[in-house]
Amino acid sequence: MRHAELTLGSAGRFAEAKKVLPGGYTRDAIIRDPYPIFIERGEGSTVTDVDGRLLDDWCLNATSLAIGHADPRVVKVATEQTTRGSAFHTMTGDETALAELLIERIPSAEMVRFTNSGSEAVMIAIRIARGVTGRKLIVKFEGSYHGTYDEVQWSVGPPRDKFGPADDPNVVADSGGLTGSDGRVSVLPYNDAAVLEAFMAAHGEGVAAVIVEPMANRMGSVVPAADFLQKARDSCSSAGALLIFDEVIAYRLGYGGAQTVFGIKPDITTLGKSIGGGFPVGGIVGRKDIMMITEPGRKGRVTHAGTYNGNPVTMSAGRVTQEILTLNVHREIDAMGEHIRSELRHLTEGLPITVSGGGPFFKLNASGRKIFNYRDAVSCDKEWQRLASLALLNRDIVISGSLAGCTASTTTDMQVSSLLEGVKEILNV
Ligand SMILES: Cc1ncc(COP(=O)(O)O)c(C=O)c1O
Repeated sequence: MRHAELTLGSAGRFAEAKKVLPGGYTRDAIIRDPYPIFIERGEGSTVTDVDGRLLDDWCLNATSLAIGHADPRVVKVATEQTTRGSAFHTMTGDETALAELLIERIPSAEMVRFTNSGSEAVMIAIRIARGVTGRKLIVKFEGSYHGTYDEVQWSVGPPRDKFGPADDPNVVADSGGLTGSDGRVSVLPYNDAAVLEAFMAAHGEGVAAVIVEPMANRMGSVVPAADFLQKARDSCSSAGALLIFDEVIAYRLGYGGAQTVFGIKPDITTLGKSIGGGFPVGGIVGRKDIMMITEPGRKGRVTHAGTYNGNPVTMSAGRVTQEILTLNVHREIDAMGEHIRSELRHLTEGLPITVSGGGPFFKLNASGRKIFNYRDAVSCDKEWQRLASLALLNRDIVISGSLAGCTASTTTDMQVSSLLEGVKEILNV
């Protein structure tokens, strides 16, 4: 009830949106029951909605704003670039500069290609893997989301009655319009090194790539056991398959990405979100001998086009954002994340709620069971999580509908206190 009173402007805007956008949306991740809030402006770790409420933003556009909204240094370069021209049918120096910064930080990155979204990055990474190996099969994990792309939209959120065996999950379409995964995609349980090893021993010769999130975001910000990623590395190497880390979100897990945290080098890494400094972006980075298959003039070349690839505004904003995100800044952001997780653990002690995440990420899971894989994740009380996120919104706190959030360099101690106070109130502890 209070939500309706506080969000009259958003309700009105949503009614208008529904007339021209199917269901009111162009983007599935922001679907909210009863409706999403409409934003007027963002600044640091806050947003102001169309009803004039100043809200603490823990979503930060699905984790992409590592230095918050509208950082003046980003605004400056993006505005200057826009003034000089926002798009050209050729290159600008910032594309090379951002590539150099990524190569400097990410241990496995020797060459880079830019896209406009994480989904496109995954799409081209898979094409590269198939081009390099000459093989077809992609292995993904149940419950992992790798973007809105046909080859990976399998078993992202399958219903219980379609699961199949835990150690040999069914390959379940996550969308209408997918025309069959036969022989192209296999699905394995996340975090199960033994099943992965057995699968690769039996079928590895046909596998082009194993694609894995080093933190399974949609499953519940699940940080995998270190041996799972190591076994993925080893079994891909033995089978001659490529290992793709999808770090579209997990890049923020540590300075240099998740691979620095785990000390494991994938062959290809897909990036997105934060590397664009608040503008649309994706990136594929990897070993030189692999990435060079996209080089013009190569025999059997993997092609990769895109009108806005390496867009000058995105590249300038991304470059400045990476420069601002020094190791020390990263450490501060991560320390705040760790503090929040530890306080949340304290608050939820003895309750059927677990806390997950790493680096800047935190999530409350309404389930007494610690989440290792997708089947654990479905035990969460999603309706409770939704109502809790609305209750927090009534307290001027924006968090995802599944109770996930993240810190940024702009997050303040006061915001942390009010988040923890809000959670305390809704838990009644
Ligand atoms: C792990 C992962 N991969 C890929 C994507 C797709 O990125 P985009 O939404 O930029 O297409 C997402 C988006 O949330 C993601 O979380």
